[in-house]
Amino acid sequence: MTKLNQYMARGIELLGSDYAILCGAMSWVSERNLVSAISNAGGFGVIACGAMTPELLDQEITATKALTQRNFGVNLITMHPQLFDLIDICAKHQVTHVVLAGGIPPKGSLEAIKASGAKVICFAPTLAMGKKFVRSGVDALVIEGSEAGGHIGPVATSILAQEILPHLANDVPIFVAGGIGRGEAIAAYLEMGAAGVQLGTRFVCAHESIAHPAFKKAFMRASARDAITSVQVDPRLPVIPVRALKNTGTEAFTAKQIEVAKLLDSGAVDMMAAQLEIEHYWAGALRRAVIDGDVENGSLMAGQSVSMVTQEESVADIIASLAQQAEAALQSRN
Ligand SMILES: Cc1cc2nc3c(=O)[nH]c(=O)nc-3n(C[C@H](O)[C@H](O)[C@H](O)COP(=O)(O)O)c2cc1C
Repeated sequence: MTKLNQYMARGIELLGSDYAILCGAMSWVSERNLVSAISNAGGFGVIACGAMTPELLDQEITATKALTQRNFGVNLITMHPQLFDLIDICAKHQVTHVVLAGGIPPKGSLEAIKASGAKVICFAPTLAMGKKFVRSGVDALVIEGSEAGGHIGPVATSILAQEILPHLANDVPIFVAGGIGRGEAIAAYLEMGAAGVQLGTRFVCAHESIAHPAFKKAFMRASARDAITSVQVDPRLPVIPVRALKNTGTEAFTAKQIEVAKLLDSGAVDMMAAQLEIEHYWAGALRRAVIDGDVENGSLMAGQSVSMVTQEESVADIIASLAQQAEAALQSRN
């Protein structure tokens, strides 16, 4: 048994994979092809449900199952208006793992997932929330720092790891996400007590990823400093920051916020509707870039680890290099 296997043992057991490496759900990118390729290569793929309807999720799970015999997860956004219908779809397919993202899970959702026999994984933004989730019976936690691509919290991965791992790593398996591009970083978080890791950005340019060639090219050209966070322009309209490569779309988001803030002021929409409007905007902007290849006006959500994405490779090659680098780092400690 390799050292990496020993360090990842709890994560591997929880996921039923060869490596405790999750490919975090990425809207539009994490669909049947990438998800099945990740799981077939020994990692753990997660379908991004995003704003999909229950019918679409049903089709996506069916199609993914046709491409892999291995476990994969489904990521559901807690604010989805049909969350419980989506949970029913996962239950119907006996999906083994459900990841709840995007805020505090509504009452009854954890219970509904567990009743289906699936394991439930939640994002812990703070130690207090992590403790609360453990008490509620979640099977594993993800801690994701602000280096990550997409919607992010305010705290860096290095800080969250120090705040949370020493206190909760013995209670449940914890997966560290955000800013991981090489195996040496995986080794370091495992040594701190993580059971595994979650990467997103590093997998976007996999051959098996359906992201548009222009989207992949933007990733391969970018350096870490190009992956910047969106700015909140109106203090009355709190928006979750999004990390993406800077382009014309970055400025368009500023204009969008002003437009939505005006609707809020006029009473045309309430705060909930305003925030949903912002989220729909992001989903549309990401689709434009990932699917249509409009890298100027669409959203190029990417983490700072984009600097370590330099070529298109197969998922198997990416996982193999991460594992080799992590193993070499762990061996070098003797
Ligand atoms: C293009 C893109 C889209 C993403 N979409 C989602 C999403 O829909 N739901 C989610 O929970 N996380 C989403 N994420 C976050 C990833 O699941 C993952 O946690 C993150 O990419 C890890 O950090 P890294 O990018 O530094 O590897 C997205 C990330 C990227 C780069």
